[in-house]
Amino acid sequence: MPKIAALHGISNIYSKHKPPGHATPRKRAHKREHAWVDVSDDDLEVKSSKKLSSKGTNKSDHGPRKKARLSAPPGPSFKESLHQQRKQLPIYSGKDAVVDMIRENDVTVLIGETGSGKTTQVPQYLLEAGLSGSGMIAITQPRKVAATSLASRVASEQSTSVGSLVGYSVRFDEACSSDTRIKYVTDGMLVRELLGDPLLSRYSVVIVDEAHERTLRTDLLLANLKTLLRTRNAPTSAVREGAKGKGKGKGKERASEKLNPLKVVIMSATLEAEKFSKFFGGAQVVYVKGRQHPVTIYHTKTSQPDYVDAAFRTFFQIHTDRPSGDVLIFLPGQEDIESLEKSIQLYANQLPKDASGVLVCPMYAALPPSQQTKIFSPTPAGMRKCILATNIAETSITIPGVKYVIDTGKCKEKRYLAKHTGTGFDTLLTRDITQSSAVQRAGRAGREGKGFCFRLYTEEAFNALPITAEPEILRCTLTSSVLQLRCLSQNLEELDLMDTPEESSIAFALIALVLLGALDNRRSLTPLGRKMAAFPLEPPLARALLAAPELGCTSEVLAIVSVLSSSSSLFVNSHDARDAAADARRKFRHPSGDHLTILNVVRAYEDVAGAESKAGRRDWCRKMFLNERCLAEAVNIRAQLRDVCERQQIDWRVGVGDSQGAESAILRAMVQGLVQNTAFLQPDGSYKQVMGHTILKIHPSSSLVDKKVPAIIYDELVYTTHIYARGVSAIPRNFIAEVPLLKQRTR
Ligand code: CDP
Ligand code: MG
Repeated sequence: MPKIAALHGISNIYSKHKPPGHATPRKRAHKREHAWVDVSDDDLEVKSSKKLSSKGTNKSDHGPRKKARLSAPPGPSFKESLHQQRKQLPIYSGKDAVVDMIRENDVTVLIGETGSGKTTQVPQYLLEAGLSGSGMIAITQPRKVAATSLASRVASEQSTSVGSLVGYSVRFDEACSSDTRIKYVTDGMLVRELLGDPLLSRYSVVIVDEAHERTLRTDLLLANLKTLLRTRNAPTSAVREGAKGKGKGKGKERASEKLNPLKVVIMSATLEAEKFSKFFGGAQVVYVKGRQHPVTIYHTKTSQPDYVDAAFRTFFQIHTDRPSGDVLIFLPGQEDIESLEKSIQLYANQLPKDASGVLVCPMYAALPPSQQTKIFSPTPAGMRKCILATNIAETSITIPGVKYVIDTGKCKEKRYLAKHTGTGFDTLLTRDITQSSAVQRAGRAGREGKGFCFRLYTEEAFNALPITAEPEILRCTLTSSVLQLRCLSQNLEELDLMDTPEESSIAFALIALVLLGALDNRRSLTPLGRKMAAFPLEPPLARALLAAPELGCTSEVLAIVSVLSSSSSLFVNSHDARDAAADARRKFRHPSGDHLTILNVVRAYEDVAGAESKAGRRDWCRKMFLNERCLAEAVNIRAQLRDVCERQQIDWRVGVGDSQGAESAILRAMVQGLVQNTAFLQPDGSYKQVMGHTILKIHPSSSLVDKKVPAIIYDELVYTTHIYARGVSAIPRNFIAEVPLLKQRTR
């Protein structure tokens, strides 16, 4: 760890003598030996926002305004301060115009800079204006953590607690009641709701937020909304002419006269309005001008392969040389965030007593809600907040007080790797961001005043970045979506989508579903497929769970599947105490591999949970190098899956316990789900997929690493230097032969 004496040593990516800020204006930056190059002061001014027409939205919104601190300041009452904050948001002056536009049109595309108040205010405006009638307003978010945190914010603005007037619904977590009128949902949850309510009859308004992200679920939702509009709304609907939807859902013919007409609002922070408007037959577009202050952007002179280290050094350079203001660092994922959090914390503790303190706040998808509040609370006097975030802070969440942005230029992206694999698989890869993301990230520094953005990549690298990202539907596996659509009597290939996936990718999903027994050989939905879709699980895990009752091991498979569906990993990796962690892990190790090891952990945790206090439980998890957050989340997931089991008349209490044959029953059930994730040992010690041609190795994190067993199943493949199988169990070869469609491959 660097010591305080080495403070100046951390600055070697900029000038030796002066921090980069002194390099502005541009001319000087080029002349001097500065690694950072100031590219523009005005880069982030909105370039082409068209002002809202007749009502003159944001007349006074040009140029910087008086700085408004948006987190609850000390002062009058909290309620009063929230009220004031709402009034100061850029969208406030356009409130009436926005409401009128939505009232007059079935579909409205609303574009506004991040932080202008779209997500938090528009639903409240619509509710206050009575536009929701007797129905609810849904606002979709691509990320769970955004949906829950926005719901709490809006609930406070409405002076209620979350779950009453304002609620949320995300996978495995819900806070709603019969009073709920504004509901923040993940796009995936709303697609799921279509299964039970194909007309989305409970909703009067559906706001598709962060539409520019073009997640798979957002695209499916947009396609469904387009057909739904024709069903639910009057024949004069503007959509009617423009929409030539091909999807022919059974439910749509049953349009109910009594239903409220549906209003659809598409919201986005980027200026890609045209595509959405065109998709909805020329829908109206409203632009809300934000209040962006100039942001000075610096690029590094050379590329920074160790971006975590570069971010570390840049942060302390800012902290020691620059005036107050919080720092937001964009990193690709949780691991980098946790590692940087530790280094910054350690280093900050060694700063001289008179230096201002550092408050490190991580922000990523799996962060529990209880830890999110710190991010939004005002920075204590004499401290500098350092927020370490994934691209969640790019547009979906606005954190007040940020003056400096450090952009590593990296993000994680799910991508389907079909190359040299017969079956293809999704993998999460760290990759370069797009220009559009880079501009959004920089913009976060200029919300409340002049800001600074430090890009840890060169200007040439920026120019070489793609402009925008490819929609998820073109790069991810479609198995679960195809299944859900089949339950709605829709075929993905016939759906009117903004972008159509490749045939091979649809074919892969269909093969996977046939192998899982969700579709029959004629590709029709089977009763098993319908049951699988009822579980909020990935199809392979749903299949494993549904295989369990016949084998008498529902309770055990439920426990395993719940842990596998949790958003964080079960084991804590400790670089500092590697041996102790390995010793602890050995206590739970099951000879057959990782799935039964998970079961051992769950059972041990249950014993501890029954006997110990909360603190005792935490202590036990720490000593055992287990992630309590994962275990607690799994308990919650299991409770919800038990409810679904009950609705499906499956007795979740049935278990094999420690009986003879318990192990093989559980593994047999897992094989049914992981049919595509099976591999045989090769003479050279590697493994080859049964269903594809991929050669793989067992991941170092697996309890079976280095073991040579005849056949394995695995949870997922990860691609780093090799293709690795993670979450591995050894199985007898004949288990694979028991899966009907795999029989011939085992011969
Ligand atoms: O959706 P958009 O990016 O246009 O803005 P928003 O999410 O509605 O945020 C409006 C304002 O609310 C921002 O200034 C945020 O700082 C503030 N906000 C907050 O203080 N705490 C939250 N949990 C969410 C938003
Ligand atoms: Mg928003």
